[in-house]
Amino acid sequence: LKYVKEVFSSRPPLPPGPRLPRTVQTLGWMLRPGPFMSRCSERFGDTFTVRIRNEGTWVFLCDPEDVKRVFTGDPEQLRAGEANVVLRPVVGPRSVLLLDEPRHMTQRRLMLPPFHGERMQRYGELMAEVTRAEVERWPVGEPFGLWPRMQAITLEVIMRAVFGITGADHLDHVRELLRHMLDWTTSPRQLAFLALMGPGRVEANRDFRSVMDPVDAAVLQLIAHRRASTDADEREDILSMLLQARYEDGTVMSDQELRDELMTLLVAGHETTATSLAWTLERLLRHPDKLGRLCEEVAAGDQEYLDAVIKETLRLRPVLPIVVRRLREPMRFGGHLLPAGVSVAPCIYLMHRRPDVYPEPERFRPERFLEQPAGTYTWIPFGGGVRRCLGASFAQFEMARVLETVLTTVDLQADRPESERVVRRAITLTPSRRAGAVMVARRPSDSVPLARRTEIAASAR
Ligand code: HEM
Repeated sequence: LKYVKEVFSSRPPLPPGPRLPRTVQTLGWMLRPGPFMSRCSERFGDTFTVRIRNEGTWVFLCDPEDVKRVFTGDPEQLRAGEANVVLRPVVGPRSVLLLDEPRHMTQRRLMLPPFHGERMQRYGELMAEVTRAEVERWPVGEPFGLWPRMQAITLEVIMRAVFGITGADHLDHVRELLRHMLDWTTSPRQLAFLALMGPGRVEANRDFRSVMDPVDAAVLQLIAHRRASTDADEREDILSMLLQARYEDGTVMSDQELRDELMTLLVAGHETTATSLAWTLERLLRHPDKLGRLCEEVAAGDQEYLDAVIKETLRLRPVLPIVVRRLREPMRFGGHLLPAGVSVAPCIYLMHRRPDVYPEPERFRPERFLEQPAGTYTWIPFGGGVRRCLGASFAQFEMARVLETVLTTVDLQADRPESERVVRRAITLTPSRRAGAVMVARRPSDSVPLARRTEIAASAR
């Protein structure tokens, strides 16, 4: 009876969608996200309704015009912060991810300058250094998962470039606390528990507090220490820049606000970048011709193909399949008038597989981005509009530096010929066998890409 009621009570006026009970839809979405979304779009077209347990009702949007309207629409009416509330126990209530207008824009403006594309350049050498140190630890001739190795790199980069932590002891201590917290909050068991409890009860939960409290204490101590130090002007880490940033009324961020934003940058930036890097290598190792071309171009100091490889991986293997906005007022999408309270979900995964935009969409072909630039509303791995990923330049720059360093330092092969499947871990879509690889050989140290060699030579002069 419940099923019949669900089907009939909430169908009109929403667009069509699977008639399966909510629990079955939730299972499809959780366990087989790719095939689930593809089947829905084959059956229902560009606009369809999915019902997910604990998340409410999502209307998926795959038409570029609809997606454009979401990204350029009034953010007062299209609320993103509300939809992210499940992250509150970790990122905190003042996180830019959880705010909606008008507070969101005030906070975002304050945080944007350190993430400006040109500013990223200063972290290039740090990113390469962290990667070289990590690659040193990889075994030769034995299969291993690249994905956890990429996580180690991106965590280290965040601790050093964002938090500005230096000194081996301190790094070791904070790394251990963060790793433990990240492992705990993304383990499937804890995730099910987090989703069922709701944010309020999680925040008060004793087990959760025992993992989170030491992290909070370490981060607050770091903030206090940095506030008291006198070298803030010379420091280049993002925390130091955020400490100096001022709201329009001249005030600065409170310790709690800084704590929340640091945790936001960690949660939003660490896993996403690591997984995208793992996917890039997973795809490249299955396409030796593309890998060969990339190695040659990187060695010649050319960045263009590297950029295309990164774009193509983010297209074909986006780590986040959707972004979500909750409607505050009724709005029309895909010919349907949607009521207030419903969430629309521009679908990154399906948009990136539109054959009219990307011919032969399942093929890994970086060349497509040399032939045609990425479209603002059709290439959307970082979402869009006023909520577009704040770390998009940072992430792409980091991916380029890490890949360039890995490919000029070692020769890798896939551990098995077959492609890895897309599986969900927490909210990200990851490679099923952790991007398995074998290191065939280390390269002699003089095979640094030409661009880097010229830079080094110039700086030595
Ligand atoms: C390949 C890596 C990454 C991917 C695929 C990614 C993707 C995304 C997506 C899809 C959103 C939501 C956009 C929307 O709702 O329209 C987002 C938001 C955000 N991302 Fe990223 N991200 C990545 C890396 C990073 C990094 C490295 C950082 C920072 C260090 C970062 C910080 C943020 C922040 C702060 C937001 C919230 C922006 C806001 O609400 O105004 N991300 N990201």
